[in-house]
Amino acid sequence: MPEYVLQVKNLTVQANQKVILKDINLDIEKNSTVILFGPNGSGKSALIKTIVGISGYKIVKGDIFFEGKSIKDLPIHERARLGIGIMFQHSPKVRGVRLEQIAHFLTSQEEKIKSLASQLHLDKIFHRELNFDFSGGEMKRSELFQIILQQPKLLLLDEPESGVDLENISLMGSILDSFLKEQKPASLIITHTGYILDYIQATTGWVMIDGAIHCIGHPREIFETIRKFGYERYRKCL
Ligand SMILES: Nc1ncnc2c1ncn2[C@@H]1O[C@H](COP(=O)(O)OP(=O)(O)OP(=O)(O)O)[C@@H](O)[C@H]1O
Ligand SMILES: [Mg+2]
Repeated sequence: MPEYVLQVKNLTVQANQKVILKDINLDIEKNSTVILFGPNGSGKSALIKTIVGISGYKIVKGDIFFEGKSIKDLPIHERARLGIGIMFQHSPKVRGVRLEQIAHFLTSQEEKIKSLASQLHLDKIFHRELNFDFSGGEMKRSELFQIILQQPKLLLLDEPESGVDLENISLMGSILDSFLKEQKPASLIITHTGYILDYIQATTGWVMIDGAIHCIGHPREIFETIRKFGYERYRKCL
């Protein structure tokens, strides 16, 4: 029997009275990494924000199960405590909260904080308020730092490599790959550039178009097809 960390069943979601996710079904097993592809505005971020429980996304049909239990009525902090972690596409600024404080809130392992902060070159931003005047790359490295310290059972990564230079993509990719191999969580990664595929072993790819999952396949093949032919080719597999 597969051990599902996440199951999304017939999920339909509204934001601002408009349906933005339509009848989504998907499962993620423990120790597997799935990639979510889709054009801008197709609903990728909305899906992971709904899974995490960010306000503004109203479930009008269906359910979300984490380790077999429905989480759709749980507040965001309880979902985080269960083991759901998100790396934001657009990281929120948090006035009065410094990165080092978040790190100490996430773990008491001082050595781990120090070594990971050093590996990810966070010294410049470690004592600063979260995401205030962080560069694009600093923000992404800080997000990866936090999610690794959180040690979630389910990682939801929204364009982790977007805006990151090639050297830092390589650094982040290898740190993420080690984490996935050691902890064996489940993960869902959204990518447009596909760079992250060079560093981690993804098992499945999904293509989302207009708020619905249209196709499932091998992530590399999907990426190459999108590169050559665009997303249109995937409309017909629904
Ligand atoms: N809270 C909200 N209220 C109203 N509309 C929303 C809300 N969140 C998302 N949308 C709309 O839903 C659609 C999907 O948005 P989403 O952010 O999920 O796209 P995406 O697939 O992540 O795109 P991108 O690749 O550009 O990040 C968009 O048309 C967006 O404007
Ligand atoms: Mg998005």
